[in-house]
Amino acid sequence: MKKSELRTPCYVVQERKLRENLEILREIREETGCHILLAQKAFSMYRVYPLIGRYLDGATASGLHEARLGYEEMGKENHIFSPAYREEEMPEILRMCDHIVFNSPAQFRKYKDLVRRYEIQTAEQVENSKTAGRSVKNAGGISMGLRINPECSTQEGHAIYDPCAPYSRLGTTLERLQAELTEEEICELDGLHFHTLCEQNSDDLATTLRAVEEKFGRYLSRMKWVNFGGGHHITREDYDRELLKKCIRHVKETYGVEVYLEPGEAVALNAGELITEVLEIVDNGMKIAILDTSAACHMPDVLEMPYRPPLKGAVSTEDADLRENKYVYRLAGPTCLAGDVIGDYVFDHPLQCGERLVFQDMAIYTMVKTNTFNGMNLPDIVLEKEDGECEIVRTFGYEDFKSRL
Ligand SMILES: Cc1ncc(COP(=O)(O)O)c(C=O)c1O
Repeated sequence: MKKSELRTPCYVVQERKLRENLEILREIREETGCHILLAQKAFSMYRVYPLIGRYLDGATASGLHEARLGYEEMGKENHIFSPAYREEEMPEILRMCDHIVFNSPAQFRKYKDLVRRYEIQTAEQVENSKTAGRSVKNAGGISMGLRINPECSTQEGHAIYDPCAPYSRLGTTLERLQAELTEEEICELDGLHFHTLCEQNSDDLATTLRAVEEKFGRYLSRMKWVNFGGGHHITREDYDRELLKKCIRHVKETYGVEVYLEPGEAVALNAGELITEVLEIVDNGMKIAILDTSAACHMPDVLEMPYRPPLKGAVSTEDADLRENKYVYRLAGPTCLAGDVIGDYVFDHPLQCGERLVFQDMAIYTMVKTNTFNGMNLPDIVLEKEDGECEIVRTFGYEDFKSRL
């Protein structure tokens, strides 16, 4: 199918752009020997997991369902981090995950013996399966890690994305680590994990690493691995990849550990569009175009973060000289929420009902966050192949709305 024939609204993920991002990430892996995982929270379009799996080491999950998706659809290294695990989910997590990262000393202490017992049982099964000719997953054992909080904020303005903000529940501070775990228990950990960045460059990683080393340096060489989390905007044009490589090599060489990165955004950055149609234009002091897509339902980060998404062929009023431009429109969704507004944009022509508009950078933190408020239908999910052909991966309808209620 051609792009112009697609039903709107739809997310169109571009295979070519995804591959270009993956090539950049593979180069970092190959040049430094680090491991890179897809953080599924940002992008879980599993139709392209086989492609992603050809370039990256595996996937990481925020909970059981993402872990299962990575296990079933990518089938490579499978990691999980959650601030708190439910006991009844642990058997499945143990069966599917290679790394389990705990958020607090109490969670680690609660589950560590369960993990080790599972490993012993699995080792026995592996022995038995050798004679029976079967293969068993997790034969290499499960690695346990603790998420640390280096208490080093490097981002301004977005406190809700800052795990180092005061009273953060994410990660264990040095003080809590030393107060709550014995030296023997710390030695039972295989790795330390930190995630503190959001859409940041490698200078902020370097700053964070200095804090990590200053506070937790004495523990690093006892570990097998250190996970630098996500938030590294590696595939962005101005990202300093040489400094990233330097940081990775420094940690590997100084402490003799493996290094993991788990970017989400960087994997599918600028690799997707959201195509929408103008349904109506109303006037109330300015022209307001009502679209068949909604900020609240289809791009909630526009309201949550908030930010104004790039739009093909138009500029945000924040970046335009309004005295010279006649065709200014507020783009808004069709829901009842008064604030379901995507933003104000300047066009070089008057908008018409039925015209298609294309929002850019819509692969990440969109499909994974949609909702059906007001009974809004979900956008189709489409893969645009390298030859320009479009494959409709998923469509939605009334049953998807009804079945969740
Ligand atoms: C623990 C963890 N790892 C990885 C990521 C992925 O971050 P990003 O998509 O910004 O690269 C996040 C995002 O919140 C996270 O919390």
